[in-house]
Amino acid sequence: MLALLLAGNGVDVSIYDSSEASLGKAAENAEKSGLAARVHVCKDYDALCQSLGGPKVFIFSLPNGRPGDAVVQQLQPYLTRGDIVIDGSNENYQVTQSRQAMLRPRGVAYIGMGISGGFIGARHGPSLMPGGDKWALEQVLPLLTKIAAKDDYGRPCVTKIGSGGSGHFVKMVHNGIEHGIMAAICEAWELMDKCLHMDGEEIGSVFDSWCAEGELKGNFLVSISGPICRTKNQSNSGFLLHNIRDAVVQDANDSEGTGVWANLEAVAAHIPAPSLSAAHYLRIASADVLQRCSINASLGSVSPGQIALAPGERSELLEDLREAVYVAVLACFVQGLNLLERVNRREGWSIHVEQVIRIWRAGCIIKSDYIADLFDRSYARDAGLHLLCREDIVGEIKKCWPSLKTVVLKGLEADAHLPCLTATLEYLKYVGSTDLPTNFMEAQLDSFGAHGFDLKSEPVRHLSKGMSITRPLTIVKLISS
Ligand code: 6PG
Repeated sequence: MLALLLAGNGVDVSIYDSSEASLGKAAENAEKSGLAARVHVCKDYDALCQSLGGPKVFIFSLPNGRPGDAVVQQLQPYLTRGDIVIDGSNENYQVTQSRQAMLRPRGVAYIGMGISGGFIGARHGPSLMPGGDKWALEQVLPLLTKIAAKDDYGRPCVTKIGSGGSGHFVKMVHNGIEHGIMAAICEAWELMDKCLHMDGEEIGSVFDSWCAEGELKGNFLVSISGPICRTKNQSNSGFLLHNIRDAVVQDANDSEGTGVWANLEAVAAHIPAPSLSAAHYLRIASADVLQRCSINASLGSVSPGQIALAPGERSELLEDLREAVYVAVLACFVQGLNLLERVNRREGWSIHVEQVIRIWRAGCIIKSDYIADLFDRSYARDAGLHLLCREDIVGEIKKCWPSLKTVVLKGLEADAHLPCLTATLEYLKYVGSTDLPTNFMEAQLDSFGAHGFDLKSEPVRHLSKGMSITRPLTIVKLISS
């Protein structure tokens, strides 16, 4: 699809795939699209590299890890100074950085480029997140600008993200946010389907209305929700959703992937990202169907029941649900961007986060017009502040927080599955609290581990590694005496 997009933009493309069937299909698609003259199908790396002039630019997108290693290995003999390899996979940024380090001494650049938008984006214009050496980014930017999605203002959704593996890191954050939003929406669907007994048509119309105006306006994942809900079974009896198994299995490798890394990175960087991790836990629990069946046989499970509503209360609850989903989506962005900002500082990548927001305005899965406008305003006004201290963002959260609470309370009472919405509510409660119950945790740590603690009367210490123990053994002594 990307080859066709490039060819459609006047670029001569040579393509190679180890699968003959895929190559055949690509040639057929090029023919059908009238682009065969610009798409040269090659039978091996030798033919591929001979068909190119110099310097050569390669683009590939593969499952992370070994497949990419193998391709880089096979390309090695053909690479010469000035060549650029663009890895458009969902690759781990550290793997990208080690491939960069391997090729840099030979004068070959390796660009880790996040590509979002699925197969439709690849064909008609994706959001592109390239990171790597500056000279190489500058060389390929004109090419990438041609094929990137254009936002409502006509701006291409591509920018030089930063150095090293920053492009792949940004895509990983994008996917962490994506998974959070997907969970929030699927929880809303269940509430409407199982607790309010609405049919696919009705639920579809609700999602359509959310996407048409208000805070979820222009949200890509909400925009595909209406059609998903309305899709009927082939026999036209009933809605397809009810026949889809509830197992979201990871693609290539169960223990890896952007969702796993986003959560690992958040923990390692000390960024609370519970909306993202709750979404991820839901996904990994869903994947193991047989285990769920055995636990179900022993522990049993509760099923979402009806939420009893007085006449006229349904539209109120649906409005609360819209606001609850919105605030969860916003929290996913906040948590993902907090992670990005912190790791950007740690790694010295020079990412401009406001540019990242800009290139997520079209082509990508987390496109969310209202939220992009909100972040634009907040970066223009309060860029130095924590996202949750910025006036515009705070205003939105305060506005919708009560609706989130209402939905969680009603949903939990009805035994609905609400991991992401519940985690978001808790996050909002603890992230800004100045009176957490964790003084008890401090005391526990001190009690069994001589960890020490600070008294409220003492000055607040900054969080850093190697904090000194100010008051060791106090409780241990108390207990032993
Ligand atoms: C995108 C998507 C896409 C996604 C894959 C696999 O932005 O277009 O994020 O890249 O990652 O469809 O998804 P999982 O790794 O989550 O299974």
